[in-house]
Amino acid sequence: MNRSRRSFLYGAAAAAGAGLAFPAWAKEKPPPPPGESGIVTGKPRALRYEAVEGFLSKEQIGWHHDSHYGGALKKFVQLDADATGDHRLRTAKMNSVVLHELYFDNMAGKPSDPKSSANAALKKRFGSVDRWIADFRAAALSSRGWAVLAWHPVNGKLYNIATDAHDDGPAWFGVPLVVVDMYEHAYYLDFQNKKKDYVNGFTDHVDWAEVDRRVKATAG
Ligand SMILES: [Fe+2]
Repeated sequence: MNRSRRSFLYGAAAAAGAGLAFPAWAKEKPPPPPGESGIVTGKPRALRYEAVEGFLSKEQIGWHHDSHYGGALKKFVQLDADATGDHRLRTAKMNSVVLHELYFDNMAGKPSDPKSSANAALKKRFGSVDRWIADFRAAALSSRGWAVLAWHPVNGKLYNIATDAHDDGPAWFGVPLVVVDMYEHAYYLDFQNKKKDYVNGFTDHVDWAEVDRRVKATAG
């Protein structure tokens, strides 16, 4: 485990030891079923957390969810009414909806370590969890759009992928396992230009139980 991750977890443990309780909205909640995606229902998928304790404020997440995710969903629904035309824009809006849903679902306030399946998959491909974290952070810092850990079903390997736009450089057949939004709107209220602090905060707040569910789903 690297230095920043270790110090963060120790800090959280100290806070827990001091009797600081997580508020009700930060309690563990399962993600809504995949069928509740906006691309299925046409309505915004419910947020798991209104804020991510110790990382992202209610204002940052609320604005991001309502304006950016909500705006992309609205446009996707409009474009999806016709199966023809607007190929790039529809793909961009659909990818934006799906990636935002995966992003909001894969963060938790309570720090944790990768669970069994995710832990084994990361170690097998990257050698160690810390090596994956370092490479994922580098991918995120190089991106103006998204960084994604994806499993590729053709060769069964994991990849850290950086993409600058919703419809740029899609990994065909790739299954996203960990997703971080690197558009400035995702962090500017809370972190301003401190992109690195946002990325470090994200990797400290990955919901590994959710990632584990995604890894296990690739085996089915
Ligand atoms: Fe976003």
